[in-house]
Amino acid sequence: MTTRRMTRVTIFALAAAAATLAHAADATDPAVKARQEAMETIGKNMKSIADMAKGKADFDAQAAGAAAAVIAETADKVPGLFETRADDPESEAKPAIWDDFGDFTEKSEALQAAAGSADMASLDALRNSVGEIGRTCKSCHDDYRVKN
Ligand code: HEC
Repeated sequence: MTTRRMTRVTIFALAAAAATLAHAADATDPAVKARQEAMETIGKNMKSIADMAKGKADFDAQAAGAAAAVIAETADKVPGLFETRADDPESEAKPAIWDDFGDFTEKSEALQAAAGSADMASLDALRNSVGEIGRTCKSCHDDYRVKN
């Protein structure tokens, strides 16, 4: 991969990661709360690896690998957490999720696959992995999360 391409991928990754970190007000519906908590876990772990990608935190291959593993494990639970339709005034979930739950599930699986196969052995590899993971966040949020 050329340096120029690496830079583009990295910039994209960081923008994608930053866009996913906005925190909504707390929901009261227990099912909505549970799925938002799962997203917060994913968001927190994504932030820790995105901070390394940005140089805001020291590169730590072991910590980054652990964060990616938590993202993959949590992504595995996402379809189950969303399957039963639940609503709350503080939810940012779009009703389209339940119009095409198969597509929503595929987007969860894409996140699980990207996080599960993430290479955190070097800072360059981490930056690429953050890009790959960030793309899957964006792909789902674009379709299924209300922008605010
Ligand atoms: C399969 C779809 C999907 C994927 C993949 C996904 N998200 Fe989400 N995310 C959602 C939906 C839907 C919501 C809104 C949930 C609600 O408010 O009911 C959400 C909400 C969030 C929230 C706000 C949680 C809160 O406190 O309300 C954060 C933070 C977040 N996602 C981060 C991420 C990050 C980071 C990634 C990628 C590493 C990611 N998400 C991948 C669907 C997804």
